[in-house]
Amino acid sequence: MTDGDRHAGEDVREGEARSQSTAEAFRPDPAGLRRGVELLTDRAVPGALPVEMPEVGVGGVAALEALAGPVLGGARSFGTPGFFAHMDPPTPWVSWVMAMWSASLNQNLLHEDTAPVAREIERRVVGWLAPLLGMNGGHMVPGSTVANLTALWAAREAGASTVVAGPDAHISVAKSAHILGLHFRTTDWRDPGGLESAVAVITAGTTASGDIEALDAASGAAWRHVDAAWSGPLRLSPRHSHLLDGIENADSVAVSAHKWLFQPKESALVLFRDPGSAHESISFGASYLRSPNVGILGSHGASAVALMATLVAYGRTGVVAWIDRCMDLANRLAGLVDDHPDLELRSAPRSGIVCWRLRGESPEETVSRVAPEIGLSWTVIDGERWVRSVAANPMADPELVISAVAGDKPLPSVSSQA
Ligand SMILES: Cc1ncc(COP(=O)(O)O)c(C=O)c1O
Repeated sequence: MTDGDRHAGEDVREGEARSQSTAEAFRPDPAGLRRGVELLTDRAVPGALPVEMPEVGVGGVAALEALAGPVLGGARSFGTPGFFAHMDPPTPWVSWVMAMWSASLNQNLLHEDTAPVAREIERRVVGWLAPLLGMNGGHMVPGSTVANLTALWAAREAGASTVVAGPDAHISVAKSAHILGLHFRTTDWRDPGGLESAVAVITAGTTASGDIEALDAASGAAWRHVDAAWSGPLRLSPRHSHLLDGIENADSVAVSAHKWLFQPKESALVLFRDPGSAHESISFGASYLRSPNVGILGSHGASAVALMATLVAYGRTGVVAWIDRCMDLANRLAGLVDDHPDLELRSAPRSGIVCWRLRGESPEETVSRVAPEIGLSWTVIDGERWVRSVAANPMADPELVISAVAGDKPLPSVSSQA
């Protein structure tokens, strides 16, 4: 045997060992996956993140142990009774499993052959939800920022050259106009000016206060888009659907599933009254594609899988029960604020967002004084600062929040009031 033969043999053995450990990284490891679930459900304490990129790895389970502290322990928890702050909801556990399945399968919805079932799942979920929002189809996108951009792109292709929006439109509307090279102006809708070449963006559930702009505004516009990123899911609720009457007259609707449909990020829908021509106007073909690429995204994942699982697990009525409960919690919080001599309520909440404040203390101070046990946000409306509580958490406890802010004794829990 020559030196060369010996080295070749070692290379083969090393190569086999490497491919063995490579395969282990890509095969399910039941013990590792179980440990991941244990760590998720344990109470993790915050820890330090790695500073340098390791040259040699520690292995899967050791990596989970190392990252549980910083990733899980350091995260903001959206389902705790004190969290009454932002539009980010807790997510049902069935969606966590779907997120894991999706990460494992890594389907790419750009191509039919890399997502044979996932594309159909998206078609079905869109088909279930679009009619409830008065639309006939559309597709999923990572958030309503992209939904708004996509809808305004379709509006531009249909001839709109100006974006006209209410004063409290989300920043993604002005941003989209900028990207698309469209002129942008705001209006209070009382006298919106000429709209014949405009896409009118009507906000159903403004970011700051949850106000719902008149959905019959801008009837003369070339294209009417309703940004229902936050409040769109109210349309699924028999108790609250009337708040969005008129949405069915829009040309397009944006709704975030990762807000009031309790989905993991990144999950939203852009919906169209005429999805055939809207999609055609924003599609591009290429030699490597069997069907044209619709919309803004190229490679993208299967966010519809978690949404389908949530709807299959709990049904429309189950999800609606969470939304209705959130609306009740917002009204309960508003009632407690209104009844309290030291607290001031801006106005009755329209879509689950309560703007309020403690007299004699700035909202920034209030928010930081009660954090992190109590999660609140703050906003500026008409030049005035307010504490902002978004009811995205069906487990939130308004009494706990009021007691922390105003220093009261705890009041009876909300569940005993129901
Ligand atoms: C009214 C409105 N439109 C659009 C968006 C953007 O949605 P996303 O965060 O899903 O991109 C938001 C987010 O808060 C919003 O409140």
